[in-house]
Amino acid sequence: MTKKITILGLIIAIGIGWAQTGPKNLLVMKPASKKELKMYMERISDDLGVKCVFCHNMSDKSSDQKKHKLAARGMMKMTRNINTEFLNWDGADQVTCWTCHQGQKEPPVKE
Ligand code: HEC
Ligand code: HEC
Repeated sequence: MTKKITILGLIIAIGIGWAQTGPKNLLVMKPASKKELKMYMERISDDLGVKCVFCHNMSDKSSDQKKHKLAARGMMKMTRNINTEFLNWDGADQVTCWTCHQGQKEPPVKE
């Protein structure tokens, strides 16, 4: 009896362990793989001229505690909408974070 419970516990623990290796809090993105998610994150960091820590709590990247991350999530939706609603003629994304941000946290403004 106790042996059965121990084995069941082990199976559940392994199951949870597997589930936790993937991203936990994606509300906008649907990356095909961890590699694709990483490449996209590196690209947006570069587009804004920031490090991951600008948006993330580095000990838990799924956390939404930083306001920059919340702003970025809205920006991701906006960028996707611009591309899918207005620039959808050849399938490629015409507008990226770089289009507006050009390596800066806030897009340059013409004085
Ligand atoms: C400009 C803000 C921003 C920067 C910079 C950024 N991220 Fe993100 N990251 C986000 C947002 C927003 C999400 C959630 C996307 C969604 O909801 O679909 C996210 C999600 C993630 C996740 C998934 C976490 C989970 O479990 O849900 C990982 C992992 C991640 N980022 C890694 C990185 C790494 C590594 C870097 C640096 C190379 C980085 N991010 C830079 C905004 C950012
Ligand atoms: C159509 C132009 C445009 C695009 C495309 C765009 N942004 Fe922005 N973004 C802005 C503007 C303008 C602001 C400044 C808003 C303000 O000052 O209130 C801003 C502000 C931000 C901020 C807040 C910066 C801060 O200092 O708090 C983040 C984070 C951000 N954008 C991330 C992104 C990411 C990530 C992408 C790509 C997925 C993106 N943006 C695409 C125009 C854009």
